[in-house]
Amino acid sequence: MSAGVIAKPAIARRSGALGGTVRIPGDKSISHRALMLGGLAAGETRIAGLLEGEDVFNTARAMQALGATVRKEGDTWIVDGVGNGALLAPEAPLNFGNAGTGCRLTMGLVGVYDFATTFVGDASLSRRPMGRVLDPLRQMGVQVTSAEGGRLPVTLRGPKTANPVSYRVPMASAQVKSAVLLGGLNAPGITTVIEPVMTRDHTERMLQAFGVNLTVEAGNERERIIRLEGQGRLTGQDIDVPGDPSSAAFPLVAALLVPGSDVTILNVLMNATRTGLIVTLQQMGARIDVRNTRIAGGEDVVDLRVRSSELKGITVPDDRAPSMIDEYPVLAVAAAFAEGRTVMRGLEELRVKESDRLSAVVAGLKLNGVDCEDGPSFLVVHGRPGGKGLGNAAGTAVATDLDHRIAMSFLVMGLASEHPVTVDDTTMIATSFPGFVELMTGLGATIE
Ligand code: S3P
Repeated sequence: MSAGVIAKPAIARRSGALGGTVRIPGDKSISHRALMLGGLAAGETRIAGLLEGEDVFNTARAMQALGATVRKEGDTWIVDGVGNGALLAPEAPLNFGNAGTGCRLTMGLVGVYDFATTFVGDASLSRRPMGRVLDPLRQMGVQVTSAEGGRLPVTLRGPKTANPVSYRVPMASAQVKSAVLLGGLNAPGITTVIEPVMTRDHTERMLQAFGVNLTVEAGNERERIIRLEGQGRLTGQDIDVPGDPSSAAFPLVAALLVPGSDVTILNVLMNATRTGLIVTLQQMGARIDVRNTRIAGGEDVVDLRVRSSELKGITVPDDRAPSMIDEYPVLAVAAAFAEGRTVMRGLEELRVKESDRLSAVVAGLKLNGVDCEDGPSFLVVHGRPGGKGLGNAAGTAVATDLDHRIAMSFLVMGLASEHPVTVDDTTMIATSFPGFVELMTGLGATIE
């Protein structure tokens, strides 16, 4: 828990069949980027379907502090941008709360400017590594001051003219890739980012839509080489934010696990860099029908019909990790109800999310009777079809450690376990999925 915030625990109990049709909130990754590029571009950007979650509001406040205006008219968010190269020096530290994406991408966006910007966040964000973004920014000429180990608070001051770099991202991270590309917007000439494996490509797509000259070329093996021409003009756009597949994952897995369920989830983003969970669950035997495939806001969007299914454990290929990195906690919960064992590898990045997600998942699974093993970057879960013996009859709570996805994953678990599952805090759920408990109870889930 962060200082001064009162924890809101919750209990999820075995529920009757879930049923109904729901729309889940807008994609978090796209929402952050829409506000940032809208705030930077010349003219007006109109955003429909923006995620109205705490993480995204912090990005909106940061863009206001950097000179953009952000307002809401009806259901549309309207951003008046400053024009590329014309962000203003903020008068106070930018507070990103729990949001790694907001913080790291804004470090790239404004860190290269010739003024000082200070970045702060909550207890979770303050223990996450920022060095992965600070290293390339230093190469661009940025002076960095940080707490020990490259942690927040961080102050950045850019040079007179930023250096356009060629940077190979050392880990699979869309945030690092994006930070360098956004920094490159304010550097003369070509900034090149090489990513070893493809991660979510919303930054590249949206930069192109705003008019930036950006190309992507295939490199060796799975490498992608992204080149961006700096100091170009960005022009305000209309953006339609599709539903977040990482949020859809929770009602989706709940519908698979609770017998007799039949749930339809509308308007879900189906970008191939985000669909690893659906592919994996289908291989495990999940009945997920993909319907009404269409293009909205430059992205593939679908509706999903999900019916309860008997799942079988599989070995998830480790090269799938980037396309489902945020979904492993809820996949581990699905695996707890599957027949046989599910092996997940290539999970090293889970250690540096809102919590050490691998440790948090293992602790929560064990507390609720699941047989599992883990190592530095793997997790093996032995399932119990029907959820017999799962849950914690004594009501001992899972430690969510300021992590929204740990809270939602274990609440889903409780809906199909023999005994209830309790989580110590649900306040962080509002960072990414406002209305989660109401949406789930509307489908018939028992969450108190
Ligand atoms: C995100 C990238 C991922 C993901 C996060 C959102 C983004 O983080 O876990 O929730 O919007 O770029 P990493 O870049 O650290 O893998």
